[in-house]
Amino acid sequence: MTQSTPEDEQIVIIDIGEAYTKVGFAGDEQPVIFPTMTGKEKYKSVMADVDTKDQYVGEDCMRMRGVLKITYPFNRGAIMDWDSYYSVLTHIFYNVLRTDPSKVKVIYPENALTPLDTKKYITRLFFETYRVRSVYIANAPVMALFSAGLTTGMLVESGEGLTWIVPIIDGEVVTHAVQKLTLSGKDVSEYLRTLLLGYGVNITSTAQKEILRDIKEKTCFIALNPEEVAKHNKDITSYILPDGESVKFPMSVRVNAPEILFHPELLGYNVSNIAQAIINSLSKLDKQYWRTMLKSIVLSGGNTMFQGLNFRLEEELKQLLPQLGPLPKPSISRKSLEKPRMINVDTPTKMMDTCPKCGERVNLATTKICSKCGYIFGATTINIPSDFEYPNKCPHCKKKLEGKSSFCPFCGGKIVPIPLNSPKKFGSEEFIPKIKDLQAIKATEFEEDTFADDGGDIIKIVLPAKRNTAIFNGASILGSIPSAQKLFITYEKYLENPDTIGLDFSQLL
Ligand SMILES: Nc1ncnc2c1ncn2[C@@H]1O[C@H](COP(=O)(O)OP(=O)(O)OP(=O)(O)O)[C@@H](O)[C@H]1O
Ligand SMILES: [Mg+2]
Repeated sequence: MTQSTPEDEQIVIIDIGEAYTKVGFAGDEQPVIFPTMTGKEKYKSVMADVDTKDQYVGEDCMRMRGVLKITYPFNRGAIMDWDSYYSVLTHIFYNVLRTDPSKVKVIYPENALTPLDTKKYITRLFFETYRVRSVYIANAPVMALFSAGLTTGMLVESGEGLTWIVPIIDGEVVTHAVQKLTLSGKDVSEYLRTLLLGYGVNITSTAQKEILRDIKEKTCFIALNPEEVAKHNKDITSYILPDGESVKFPMSVRVNAPEILFHPELLGYNVSNIAQAIINSLSKLDKQYWRTMLKSIVLSGGNTMFQGLNFRLEEELKQLLPQLGPLPKPSISRKSLEKPRMINVDTPTKMMDTCPKCGERVNLATTKICSKCGYIFGATTINIPSDFEYPNKCPHCKKKLEGKSSFCPFCGGKIVPIPLNSPKKFGSEEFIPKIKDLQAIKATEFEEDTFADDGGDIIKIVLPAKRNTAIFNGASILGSIPSAQKLFITYEKYLENPDTIGLDFSQLL
């Protein structure tokens, strides 16, 4: 292996999707995007001096598809053809990035639930076939959330093959609440094909998949009330096929094709729709997280780029919210959000405690007020501010910030939220109530324990600007942060303990 100094080392980000591969260097604003496909010639070339290739990849493959036998390496998130996968990787290093793999570090985002064995296999492939310097198998949904400037939120990642609903708290995936749906971009394309057939449009070209995808991306949208929109069927859309022929179809096709995302039964699928899957995921989280998650539903992946998806998803979620039961009142303490993260975690209840004010022993099972000095146990929560304000400029690098993140996505500096109303000092005179105020304090405590059915503005859908490349963008930012360097592992470290691959991003927080 050629030795290189750290200055020579560049960080490359490789996100190979089922439909599109996104690659580039850390710090790049935009990746290079090419279709994830490879092709071999169907017929041997008869002209001896004509330059032919063994394998065509990406755009070349797309251009030559008529004379090629096409292979797609992925299906529903799984690698189905390893040869094709290697060809894509080789194409990335040598043709797209034009770099020497032995001089680079690789960030490779993987799905939320990729088995450790697959991660190890891919890591070894990078080290043993391409001899890269070091590898970080990142968590794709965490990267996508990061691109929106968040480290806590409900990530909806929908690409070509799969849709993932991934709750993330402080950069850590809540694994048991992750939902995986085999309902995604290719299903919308498939339903579009069926609908077009109904209007006599039959696309039979070798590029059927790509043409349907293109029609879908250019014409389809999601409506709040698709039946109403479909009534405008006289509004005809025409699309010019690559061979110059034009096909025509009415409004109902454009609006009904993406309906599959809310009604998978239209294609005979027995899976939850996207809104229902979000509710299912929330129901597996402790209810104290519900509001936080509902306030930061982040959309990522090309299949979330339909116009109107955010409005419709919000409406559908509102309809389904009653399934969760009453929502707890807005959280009072940020600390209370920290633990427990899982449901069914039994935390022992403290029965006896010593009053921090006067030292009296108090039985907390019967009272929360010290009989000697009037100190209220556990009442700190009522004085901790109900909300925090996040600075809109990083105090370290002064770059503009958006959203709520515990650190700056540009320089990695820690961001400390400012309480909206400063807390009163624990145990201060002001804190100890007079007897006549006890009634009021009891009411406050009571309010914390009750629930409110809030039909109001509780859902917020966050739309990162470049949703189709959100995973790449998040990884690109992460790769530029100096402290992220500790996430990479070298081949030597990997051999010492292969289980260390994919170190948790939350370690940086
Ligand atoms: N503007 C758009 N409107 C609707 N759909 C779109 C749009 N742009 C891309 N898509 C669809 O998004 C899907 C590709 O998204 P993305 O690139 O995130 O998937 P991928 O990474 O290739 O797949 P996966 O993540 O499932 O492996 C395709 O189905 C594509 O047709
Ligand atoms: Mg993807």
